Amino acid sequence: MKITFYGHACFGIEVNGKHLLMDPFISPNELAKDININEIPADYILISHGHEDHVADVKTIAERTKAKLVSNYEIITWFASQGIENGHPMNHGGEWEFDFGTIKYVNAVHSSVLPDGTYGGNPGGFIIRTEEGNIYYAGDTALTYDMKLIGESENIDWALLPIGSNFTMGAQDAVIAAGFIGCDKVIGMHYDTFGFIEIDKEDVKNKFSNAGKELTLMNIGATIDL
Ligand code: NI
Ligand code: MN
Repeated sequence: MKITFYGHACFGIEVNGKHLLMDPFISPNELAKDININEIPADYILISHGHEDHVADVKTIAERTKAKLVSNYEIITWFASQGIENGHPMNHGGEWEFDFGTIKYVNAVHSSVLPDGTYGGNPGGFIIRTEEGNIYYAGDTALTYDMKLIGESENIDWALLPIGSNFTMGAQDAVIAAGFIGCDKVIGMHYDTFGFIEIDKEDVKNKFSNAGKELTLMNIGATIDL
């Protein structure tokens, strides 16, 4: 399994020969200006919620790649109305077996509205179970006790957690979340993109290492083997 960071909360995950793309927000992101969205591979685009900083490039990439969208019912329905009809609608607590593995759509404590003001359903996160390992992609969320359920019922190898605070949980809460999830290997997301979410990287890394956990902050464009 390989993971590539495209900035903000956008990652590409290559697993079982398929490319998953999470929450594409690249072309409006000044920090990701060196990424060419026309070269990003995608067989599936997973969308955690409807906010602009998670859906901005969905349409462009989906039109080129013909990727299948996976999100909540409301977001899939909205994209269908925009002409992107290859979608798989889910809702909280449900799971589905795809050709790369299984996805479970889980709770996030946040909000969700689409860029034109359409109701975006309830925001979520994704548990991605595969033969090559299991990932929890939290989406935008506060720390929530629901994460304990994930720790009790899943074997998460890598957790992708927001750490930027203000709009989501910050690093201190993300350390607690990692404990709830039962996962010591965290990749940070949703930081530095806007003024409200700039972080002190050393301070944040120390918070994790002091708790015996490993935080990886990827460079935009970098790929690592998980
Ligand atoms: Ni959001
Ligand atoms: Mn966001």
